[in-house]
Amino acid sequence: MARRKKIYEGKAKILYEGPEPGTLVQYFKDDATANNAEKHAVVEGKGVLNNRLSEFFMTGLGQVGIPTHFLRRLNMREQLVRQVEIIPLEVIVRNFAAGSMARRLGMEEGTPLPRPIIEFSFKDDKLGDPLVPEEYIIAFGWATQADLDDIVALALRVNDYLSGVMYGVGIKLVDFKIEVGRVWDGDYQRLVVADEISPDSCRLWDMSSGERLDKDVFRKDLGNLTDAYTEVARRLGVMPSNATHMPKPTLIN
Ligand SMILES: Nc1ncnc2c1ncn2[C@@H]1O[C@H](COP(=O)(O)OP(=O)(O)OP(=O)(O)O)[C@@H](O)[C@H]1O
Ligand SMILES: [Mg+2]
Repeated sequence: MARRKKIYEGKAKILYEGPEPGTLVQYFKDDATANNAEKHAVVEGKGVLNNRLSEFFMTGLGQVGIPTHFLRRLNMREQLVRQVEIIPLEVIVRNFAAGSMARRLGMEEGTPLPRPIIEFSFKDDKLGDPLVPEEYIIAFGWATQADLDDIVALALRVNDYLSGVMYGVGIKLVDFKIEVGRVWDGDYQRLVVADEISPDSCRLWDMSSGERLDKDVFRKDLGNLTDAYTEVARRLGVMPSNATHMPKPTLIN
């Protein structure tokens, strides 16, 4: 039987060669990792939910004119995306203090920030994705100053869109991380949102109860991760609440 070419297997996803040059198939696994993969588990249904949720957010971004790598969803676990040159940075946008920022500055989680704050970490698992100043990024050539200006503008637009959508369903967007990639139009480069946007890469708190609806449920053992992600999907009308309990993933479309 013909086998498609695996380009990369990461912690949460697998990339396969796509059907046309310049495309990739992004397969969402059920694996959950935290603390740079120190903690690992298989969470049944997570991949299906993240595939749908990332499709939902990327499509919405496209509709408000923010370019992304997303082309279309192929089935329960896979989506077709444009192949990009990933800029080796995690672009983090924070609206409220949480996680490493709260620890670093001794702030209480949930403290509102005076304005959205963007930070960058260098994508390198061996180093634990260290926080890096813009100076390093430019000096080491990971991105130019012009790229960084575009990345900041892109990240803030994503923040506006995502916070609005979440606010509409009673969820506070505490922070999130995106990856940005380059695509080439002849000699010209465009920057697009790549990778995924899902509760794996956002902090989402219920507006009234403060209940965590993101990967912190797994990081901090706060309950069932699939239930939390299903709740986000349900509120956004992304899929029926019982979809993750289907016996076997079935091909749709
Ligand atoms: N459109 C794209 N084109 C090329 N690479 C992409 C694209 N979208 C995402 N990627 C890359 O695909 C990989 C997705 O796999 P996964 O998220 O499981 O990786 P990971 O274990 O988090 O590791 P990494 O540190 O590389 O992100 C990431 O390395 C991501 O940067
Ligand atoms: Mg990743």
